[in-house]
Amino acid sequence: MRTTRRRARAALAATSAAAAGALLLGGAVLAPAQGAEPVREPWRDAADRHDVTLGFALSPGHLATPGYRAIAEREFNLVVAENAMKWDATEQTRGTFSFGQADQVADFAESIDADLYGHTLVWHSQLPGWVTGITDPADLRDAMNDHIDAVAGRYAGDVVAWDVVNELWNDDGTRRDSVFQRLLGDGYVAEALQRARQADPTAKLCLNDYNTDGINAKSTAMYDLVADLKADGVPVDCVGFQSHLVVGQVPSTYRQNLQRFADLGVDVRITEVDIRMNVPASAANLAQQARDYGTVVSACLAVDRCDGVTVWGIDDGHSWVPGVFSGQGAALPWDASYQSKPAYTAVAEALGAGLEGGEPTPTPTGEPTGEPTGEPTGEPTGEPTGEPGDADCAASWSVSSWNTGHTGSVTLTNTGDTAWAGWAMTTTLPAGQTLQQGWSAQWSQSGSTLTATNAAWNGSVPPGTSVQIGYNASHTGSTAAPAAVSVNGAACS
Ligand code: G3I
Repeated sequence: MRTTRRRARAALAATSAAAAGALLLGGAVLAPAQGAEPVREPWRDAADRHDVTLGFALSPGHLATPGYRAIAEREFNLVVAENAMKWDATEQTRGTFSFGQADQVADFAESIDADLYGHTLVWHSQLPGWVTGITDPADLRDAMNDHIDAVAGRYAGDVVAWDVVNELWNDDGTRRDSVFQRLLGDGYVAEALQRARQADPTAKLCLNDYNTDGINAKSTAMYDLVADLKADGVPVDCVGFQSHLVVGQVPSTYRQNLQRFADLGVDVRITEVDIRMNVPASAANLAQQARDYGTVVSACLAVDRCDGVTVWGIDDGHSWVPGVFSGQGAALPWDASYQSKPAYTAVAEALGAGLEGGEPTPTPTGEPTGEPTGEPTGEPTGEPTGEPGDADCAASWSVSSWNTGHTGSVTLTNTGDTAWAGWAMTTTLPAGQTLQQGWSAQWSQSGSTLTATNAAWNGSVPPGTSVQIGYNASHTGSTAAPAAVSVNGAACS
């Protein structure tokens, strides 16, 4: 076992008030400095306030490039090996283990005080030929157990979570054909989880897959399996949603899907997000991609058990996408010259990252402050009555609190027939609650009236879809959620 240490997670309550003090002046939301693009607070610092981690997939050879390394060191508080901990990288020959690249990933994580995430122990892909060639179930079981013991054992105590089994499903929700499935049957998943628990008793143990990002046959198969495993007492702590997405196609049930797994009693994480498009990238697609990244991060922040978001790489020059999807790419938040893209800003805004040097809280790029983008549509028919149930919106508001503060997570759903082209939410905060800082919207408070207007990237809300926003507030005793919420003047149910 190596003897690195796990990074100390920032205390949400302790940091949020101090950080908010640097970002807000008297609770007012101010416009950004004029001139050059402002320097943002690092993602990782803003993520700490939410008690989530922002991760990236590292291929350690890229660290020799200064532009790549600078971003890696500045923005992230979780590191996962893109390839270095996989079976073909660690045990190319049976019983002979090589951890050179994997150790480089672990060492880099430690050097930047970031969490180390393990990827992956049992997977049908990137398997050495000697594994796929096994035909005897007992022999395969021995090989699997030895591999888990050696790899998870080496990083025991250092890794916060392991993708124990990766990509076990077909898209229709049946089991994917693999040497493990063929020889060991459905039970190989439970066997691998149990073995991983023995090898590393402190790491969370996860199942990870793609195309499980919305509610569909594949994610429902995962959901049913996790429910069964938990009922059987098998150690499964978390589920990873890879989120290799196509621009403009974040599933409408994205947050709802994360929430249903959280409600099963497991933690969730966005484990491999990238959002691809046809290249060369158009400005419209880059803007849509920014909205999509914002939606992904906001969905995680809206789900209490979401541990964070990992981006599958840093820059478009080092991405698996163009090699697999011909004519597509531009999937990451930095371009191949390490220049930040609109997606970078959207993630920063979703996290509530401020401007460096005590500058005021950020506003969406290129949009006015405090006003919805465009005319609100979907106005209520008739005068708002203030009564729930007669409007074109639904609001859900959850609060998690500590001594003198709390975080509110708000979901606003367009229940009407017309898209919102911009939105403004108003509500009355219970007595003693004072807004400190918000994200994914422009937040302000006047007396007890709390207002949130859309950010540039989430003003458009088609019928049947939702936006997730959130805020930190101080309180003097009551942490109750507001009783009534309006959007664009109409009371929400
Ligand atoms: O290391 C060899 C090198 O020696 C050889 O010269 C070169 C020639 O092609 O190949 C190198 O291996 C490549 C490896 O990445 C390391 O760079 C493989 O060809 C290439 O197929 C492999 O691709 C990786 C892929 O997983 C394999 O399935 C990608 O980098 C990696 O981003 C991708 O990551 C996966 C996650 O693990 C699971 N979820 C999906 C995700 C994207 O496919």
